[in-house]
Order: sequence, then structure tokens, then C-alpha cells
Amino acid sequence: MLTCALSTTPFRRVFAALVTSPEVSCAKTPGKTERLCYTDDYLFRKHLVACGGDNTMFAGAGMASRYVDRILRAQVYDVACESALTRAPRLSQRLNNQILLKREDEQTIFSFKLRGAYNKIYGLSAADRARGVIAASAGNHAQGVALAGHRLQIPATIVMPGTTPGIKVDNVRRLGGKVILHGDSYDQANQFAQQQATAQQLSFIHPFDDPAVIAGQGTIGAEIVRQHAEPIAAIFVPVGGGGLIAGIAAFIKQIRPEIKIIGVEPEDAPTLHQALAAGCPVRLDQVGLFADGVAVQQIGAETFRVAQELVDEVILVSTDQICAAIKAIFEDTRTVAEPAGALAVAGIQRYLVQHPLQDQTLIAILSGANINFERLRHVGERTEVGEQREALLAVEIPEQPGSFLRFCRALKAHNITEFNYRYADGQRAQVFCGVTLAPGENDAAHLAAELRTQGYTVVDMTDNEVARSHIRHMVGGTAPQVTDERIYRFTFPERPGALLRFLSGLSDRWNISLFHYRNHGAAYGRVLVGIQLPVQARAGFAAAMAEAGYDIADETENPAYRLFAQGGLSTGEHHASSATHS
Ligand SMILES: Cc1ncc(COP(=O)(O)O)c(C=O)c1O
Repeated sequence: MLTCALSTTPFRRVFAALVTSPEVSCAKTPGKTERLCYTDDYLFRKHLVACGGDNTMFAGAGMASRYVDRILRAQVYDVACESALTRAPRLSQRLNNQILLKREDEQTIFSFKLRGAYNKIYGLSAADRARGVIAASAGNHAQGVALAGHRLQIPATIVMPGTTPGIKVDNVRRLGGKVILHGDSYDQANQFAQQQATAQQLSFIHPFDDPAVIAGQGTIGAEIVRQHAEPIAAIFVPVGGGGLIAGIAAFIKQIRPEIKIIGVEPEDAPTLHQALAAGCPVRLDQVGLFADGVAVQQIGAETFRVAQELVDEVILVSTDQICAAIKAIFEDTRTVAEPAGALAVAGIQRYLVQHPLQDQTLIAILSGANINFERLRHVGERTEVGEQREALLAVEIPEQPGSFLRFCRALKAHNITEFNYRYADGQRAQVFCGVTLAPGENDAAHLAAELRTQGYTVVDMTDNEVARSHIRHMVGGTAPQVTDERIYRFTFPERPGALLRFLSGLSDRWNISLFHYRNHGAAYGRVLVGIQLPVQARAGFAAAMAEAGYDIADETENPAYRLFAQGGLSTGEHHASSATHS
């Protein structure tokens, strides 16, 4: 039974304990266990009988407990919902641990940011409310402030960089915010917003470095504690300016101190990571923009103070790992997380490589799902490498009929995701090749070594950023020395082994001088092939293709091929071509 030892504070009412933690090691008496309980007003620390029956209560001691109080009193549920904490079945099975997702994508603005913004604005005095609020943001905070202003009927101005995607600007306007487009970067917009706040006596709503904002975000921690009373090994939290992690850590470390709080940041925006290493907030010269929600150059002063004391660890993840996490979340939830929203799952995947835990419960904050549709192409492209499922190899093969086919056969069961080749000289050919690695075989170097034993010269490009982002799109160039070249576009139903069957169909009767194939996950594979076909061989080729049933188009006169892969257009053709396409 829980008893209260704080006799100096009279109870106004009997509190029902909202939460009771599982037994954990006793913080005061090594070797003993205790349970932690809290109510909506006070924090109780109850030592079990094993601890000597010494029921101790403490309230108000230290920074974290003051935040607990603020978090419990935070006003967020006028605009926010208590988001679900759902099991991710596929991820859990794959990672041998129970992975739970805190679904902040369920909020009306598809991110948690309305919690802090609303709590801050709600707490303003009547006079401040009447004058209005201003904020600078290119993303989720903007929507949170606009929504809060609208709900509380407070004029809200949001300064956004001129480069902000139209979809976000429209969203803020739709929520009733007045948008000012200013500058080219968040920093410029922020500076302008601060000037306007002073000049017009508006309340500046900081996106993270404000106790009221931190407390609003901390309500996520309170919900987790209510939603999952069983043991939790760690909560993974994406970090930008640090408001989210500070709020969650402040609550969790006071109520369930055994739970690890692990921050996750992109490798190219290690704001908290660097600050912890330096012992104080540091300003990064540049931050990567891929995970735009956390692209912050400097952690807040207050958020750093909290994080330094309460965060257990910060891990960094690459863009490709974030892309792989977006896919993993999609597979379990059919939700497309934004890059910052997927950071925590990427962090769990990385963490488990270094700490092989089993059967533990790990929670990821799925913090947002505001992604531009156009970005999905990039995400899809990088996912396979992020999952370590695609190897990129440069392979030298002999320049002779049939060697392509032999090379494909040497790849055995591996699925080819990309095949890029252009004739260069009469002896050897360089092929740029993407290959799906079989489950469990997560080592591109292993595959490269296997090919070398078969006599191929192989360079492993899997981790080569230039190859991945650029060279794969540039393989080729003109080859005026290739005679009688005809260019054909083929389509064939995409299924495992389809490319190998296609190449077998071409057999070794013709010399291939150009080849481009990229598997985009579409229903039909599309290949562009250059074949050396003297006039007398063309009829035989056409008949063989018709017999094989290929859908084929002759693109030899296509100006794109003529300009970039053959030898250029003549002046007259240039004119005709531009006339045709204008
Ligand atoms: C989707 C998303 N995740 C995480 C964060 C990081 O929050 P904080 O800046 O409080 O660290 C943000 C910040 O805007 C965000 O939009």
C-alpha cells in the first residue's frame, strides 16, 4: 500500500495513483528494489518492503521534477490527441525486440509540434494574447503556432524563408496564420521575426528553447508512461533544437528512471552530439537539410541544460539509414514518415547493431509525417543502400558478344537493380551494376570477392557517395567509333530473373554497345540497348525479337540518343529537332 510521508502538506483530496512503474533497482539502496508512482499533483517514491518499508516522497526537488509538474499541468489536449503507442510487428520480428511507435503523425498537423506551441500560447497573459504572436519556421512549428493562434483566436504571424515549399506555406495559411516570406534561410527568417516581435510588441514563440514549449512536448512522455506500464528498455527521440527530447527526458527520468533516453540525429546535423562533446551548445557551420525538421544549427540553452543531465546517449544515423527507416515504418503502418519523423526508428536499427538486445521493449517517437511527395523518389532510391540490401559494383568484363550474359549468370541468384554500360574500347568494358543482396548477406565486399574469384575485376562502390549520387546517372557518353549502332527500347514484365531471361533472349548473336537498365519497382522493366547491326543483319534481328515476343521500339533517330550517346546532331538536325519539340 502506498503511504505519504509528507505530513507538512495537507491533502486536499485523495489522489489515485495514475501510474505505477514495474519494480526497478532502488536508487537509494543498492541491491533493493522499488516502485515509482505518481499522481497528477505529486511524485511519490515508494520503497518496497525489501527496502525496509521506508516510504519516501519527494516533490519539487530538482529541475526534472519541476518539469514533471509543468508537464502534468500542460494544456495541449484542446488541439492534440493522445496519440497511439502501437506495436510495429514486422520491425519487432526482424529486430528480435518489441518495437513500439508513438504515433505523433496522428496529430491534425501530422506532427507533435502543436503540443508545445499551444501550451506556450495558452499561457500568455490577456494583454499578450491581444497583441498577437509571431514565430519563424519553415515547417511543423509554423503549423503548430498557426493552429494554436486560430483555436485561441490570437493573431499569429509566421515568418517563413522564401524557399519554403508551397505546400507548407499553403498549410499555414489554411490554418489561419499570416505568412510573411522573408530571406532564403531559417536564420534570416528568424532574425526578421525577432525584429518584428520587438517592433510590434508581439510574443515570440520559440520552436524549442522555452520551458512552456518543452513542457508541452513532454506530455508525450506522460502518455507513454500511462500507455505502457510494463518494462521499457529505451525511448528513442529525434533531436533538432532539443525541445522534444528535453520534455520527454524530464518526465521519464523522474517517473521511470530505469528507461534509457536516447537521442537520434542525422550525421550531418549532430547538434546535440557536438554540444555534449563540447560541454556547451556549439553553433554548427552547416547542417544537412534532408531531415529538415531537425536541421537546426544550435541546440537551445535550456534544452541543452536538460539534455546534458538526463539524456543517456546520442546516436547518429546516415541519410540512407533514415530512408530505410521510412520504408520500415511504411511497411508496418502504411504511413510515410518525414525524414525527421523516421529518425528514431533509424536510431533503433543502428543501436541494435552495436547492442544486440533480445526481447526488450524499445519505443521510437514517430514525430512527423509532413513530407513532400516529390521527395519519395529520392527516398526510394536510397532505401536499398540504407538497408544494406543493394551493392553497387564497377565490374570489368571482356568486350565481346555474350560476356554480358556470362556476367549476369555469374551473379547467380542476385537480383540486378541497375545495369549501365557504354562501349569504350575494343578490349574491355566497364559495367556499373547494382545488385540486391540476399537477406542475411549484408556485405557487398563479400559479393565483390566472390566475383573476383571468377576472374572479374571488381571495385566495390557501395559506399561511394559520388558513384551513388552522380556517376550512376552519367555512365555512357558518345561513342562515334561504334559502327552500325541501332538503339532499341524494350519493355518486359518485371519479375525476379527477368533481366537474365532478357539477356538470354538476346543471346550471344549480337554485340551490345550500350545498355541501360534501372529497376524502379514498376510493373514493367525498361531497357535501352545499343546493338551493332549492319544493314544485312537487321531483318534477322527484328524477326528474332518478334519471335521472343518483346515489346520493342527503334530509338536510333531519337535526338536524346543522338546528342548524348552517339555523336551529336548536325546543324540542320539541331534546328529540326528544336522545332519539333518547341
Ligand atoms: C518531425 C519533427 N521531428 C523532430 C523534431 C525535433 O524537435 P526539437 O526541435 O524539439 O528537437 C522536429 C522539430 O521541428 C520535427 O518537426
